[in-house]
Amino acid sequence: MGEGVLKRYREYLPVTADTPMLTMGEGDTPLVESRRLGKEFGIGHLFFKLEGCNPTGSFKDRGMVVAVAKAMEAGHTTILCASTGNTSASAAAYGAAAGLETVVLVPAGQIAAGKLSQAVAYGARVIQIAGNFDAALDIAREVAENYDISLVNSVNPHRIEGQKTAAFEIIETLGAAPDNLFIPVGNAGNITAYWKGFKEAHDDERASSLPQMMGFQAEGAAPIVAGHPIADPQTIASAIRIGNPASWSSAITARDESGGLIGTVSDEEILEAYKLLARMEGVFCEPASAASVAGAIKSARAGMDLSSSTIACIITGHGLKDPSVAMGLADRPQEEAPADARTVADMLGARPKR
Ligand code: F0G
Repeated sequence: MGEGVLKRYREYLPVTADTPMLTMGEGDTPLVESRRLGKEFGIGHLFFKLEGCNPTGSFKDRGMVVAVAKAMEAGHTTILCASTGNTSASAAAYGAAAGLETVVLVPAGQIAAGKLSQAVAYGARVIQIAGNFDAALDIAREVAENYDISLVNSVNPHRIEGQKTAAFEIIETLGAAPDNLFIPVGNAGNITAYWKGFKEAHDDERASSLPQMMGFQAEGAAPIVAGHPIADPQTIASAIRIGNPASWSSAITARDESGGLIGTVSDEEILEAYKLLARMEGVFCEPASAASVAGAIKSARAGMDLSSSTIACIITGHGLKDPSVAMGLADRPQEEAPADARTVADMLGARPKR
C-alpha cells in the first residue's frame, strides 16, 4: 500500500524498462459505505470512492503520475495543461516532483482558490487566459502540437490509462463491479477511463459483470446532453464548467455500451448533495464531485429502483479545493465569545457535572 499507481498496476499500464517509477502515493483511495444517505433515498448499497484522498486532493493524480513519468521517459523538460483547477494542481505537483517545468493555462478568474494556491505553491508557471476552459484547452493543444512540450491533459492517453486504475480498485474492494457507477462529467476523460478500466477487468475475468455508467453534467454546462457545444457554460461547479469536452465521443461510447445515461443536475441539486454528503456522511467534497451523488439522488427520486443495487459514486475532489462554497452555505452563524470557559459553558446551556 502507498506504493503508487505505476508500481501497483504496472502490468496494466504503459510501463517499460525505461519508465521512471514516479509516485507520490496516489491511488488506493477509500471506498466507504454510506451510513445514512443510501437509506434515506432507498439505495441498497451506496459507496463513495474518496478520490479527494489522493496527494493533491483529486483523482487527477492517478493519470498525472503516468503522463509525467512518460514525459520524463520521452525526455521532455516541460509539461503543459489547460485546467479548471485540479489538473493544474496535479500537473504542478508531479512536475515539481519530477523536476520538470510546469505551465498551466487557466480560465482567468475562474479557478477555485484552493486549486490556484496549489499550482502557485508547487512553483508552476500560471497563465490566466482571457477565455474559458475550452479556449485554454485549444491553446494548450496547439502549443503542444507545434512545440517540444508535453501536453498532460486527458487528451494524452497516458492520463486515461492511469485513471482507469480507480475502476480496478473498486472491483478489488467490492469483490465485483458495482451495478451502477455515478460520476461527474466535465471534459469526459474520467468516465472514459473508468469504462476502459471496467471493461479490461471484465475481459481478464477479474469481474464477472460491468456497471451501468451514469454520468452527470451540470445543467448550465451540459453539451453532451444538449448534443452540441455550449459557448458560455455556467455552473457553480467550476471544475466541470466545460462547453466542449475533449472526450465527448468516448463518453457516449461508455454510456451506450454500458446501457447507462448521461444526464444533468442543476446547481441546486449539486449543492443539496454537497450539503447532504457533508452533514449526513462527514464527506466534504468540492461542488463538481457532488454531481455524482446529485445524480444518484435524482435517479432515485425519478423512480429508478436502486433498492437492491450496489452503486458507487465517485467523489472526485476534496472540499478544501473550494472553501468559499462551504462558507456561503453555512446553516449556523459563527458565534463569538470571550476567552472564558464559564461563558462558553453558559452559551451551550451545559449542566455542571455532579
Ligand atoms: N470532478 C472534478 C473535481 C474535476 O476537477 C473534474 C475535471 C471533473 C470532475 C470532471 O472530470 O473532466 O474527466 O470529465 N477537471 C478538469 C481540470 C477539467 O482541469 O481539473 P472529467
